[in-house]
Amino acid sequence: MSNESVEVKHNASGVSPLQASSWKRLAARHGTPLLVLDMAQVRLQYKRLTSALPGVQMFYAVKALPYPAVISTLAELGCNFDLASSGEVELMRQAGVTADRCLHTHPIKGEREIRAALDFGCKTFVADNETEILKLARFRSKLDILLRVSFPNPGARCDLSKKFGCTPADVTRLLDLAAGQKLKVRGFSFHAGSQVPGPEMHVHAINQCVELMTTHRAYGNGSLRTLDIGGGFPADYDRSGFDINAFCAPIREALAHLPTDVRVIAEPGRFMVASSGTALASVIGKAERGGKPWYYLDDGIYGSYNGIVTEGACYPLVPLGGEGELRPSVLTGPTCDSFDMLSEALPLPDLKVGDVLAGLFMGAYTHSTATTFNGLPQAQVIVRGMSDLARRRSRKVQAS
Ligand SMILES: Cc1ncc(COP(=O)(O)O)c(C=O)c1O
Repeated sequence: MSNESVEVKHNASGVSPLQASSWKRLAARHGTPLLVLDMAQVRLQYKRLTSALPGVQMFYAVKALPYPAVISTLAELGCNFDLASSGEVELMRQAGVTADRCLHTHPIKGEREIRAALDFGCKTFVADNETEILKLARFRSKLDILLRVSFPNPGARCDLSKKFGCTPADVTRLLDLAAGQKLKVRGFSFHAGSQVPGPEMHVHAINQCVELMTTHRAYGNGSLRTLDIGGGFPADYDRSGFDINAFCAPIREALAHLPTDVRVIAEPGRFMVASSGTALASVIGKAERGGKPWYYLDDGIYGSYNGIVTEGACYPLVPLGGEGELRPSVLTGPTCDSFDMLSEALPLPDLKVGDVLAGLFMGAYTHSTATTFNGLPQAQVIVRGMSDLARRRSRKVQAS
């Protein structure tokens, strides 16, 4: 493992004393590491995005936070689901979500994964190349596909077009191949990159797809009638008061140029759940090394904070205790690995063992991607703000 230093900018202000003492109480009652999920926030984000993109059908990207309470909460609001694996299919089955509300969007998947989704009743899949089209063509009577087009976006935190998608220039050839295989193509999909810096790539990709749809209008007797604009809608990690309605204004404008019979769908993950999650970790040890205080937490890079490494995440970190003036401090995780480092110069007051630190905006790609390296447990999850119906449905999932 590398010993390279991890320098992360954290914003450590803006939590009310009431909120801080509520989190401290939860940490004392349940122990840490703890991930507190607030379903009221999930509902709010869903409402914000659906009103920013009227007429766009939402398919929550389950991978961001595949937690039963989240699925039940979104299902109750009428949200649909974007699945990418048999595990996610199983979660839908257990939550009582029907297959007509699900898409399978993984562009490259094994036959066992395809069969699991087909057994569940999924009918729409995604492909981006010859091999995948030929693989899916064997199931042509049971499914149709969206063709995923790549629009590289190096400015996004995760440029998903690096790994998936055909170029716009490949589209005619792949449509011809699918037609020859009698595999129905329903339309196009793209992902503008996760945590995009602005809406420009969504707009560009939509404009390109409008052109592709117009050029290939006659394809399959006009079957190109779906445009899937993917995810990418950012979380407000730097707490600058991000306005999703303003962000989506140019996207709405671009979508207005689509033929009126085109169904538009989106696969938001991060935007829906990031702000619902607060990670609470305790100081389990401290030391003075190289003239700086070092704090060892019970959660770290191999746990909820893995996004610091995998995607350069910068979560707002707020100490809920401590006294004295702020000193640049080293914050590390609980494993034996020196790579397990959250920050090397976070301004912190003097903390003692047992003090709690809150990581904000930690709902997306944290719990779902954490490991148990070193035999250390993942953060326990507690859920707040569920509706009665969603609570009953998610209990069923957890019991099964
Ligand atoms: C196919 C697909 N759709 C949707 C998403 C969700 O993206 P985001 O969390 O950026 O909204 C992802 C993320 O990896 C993805 O791969």
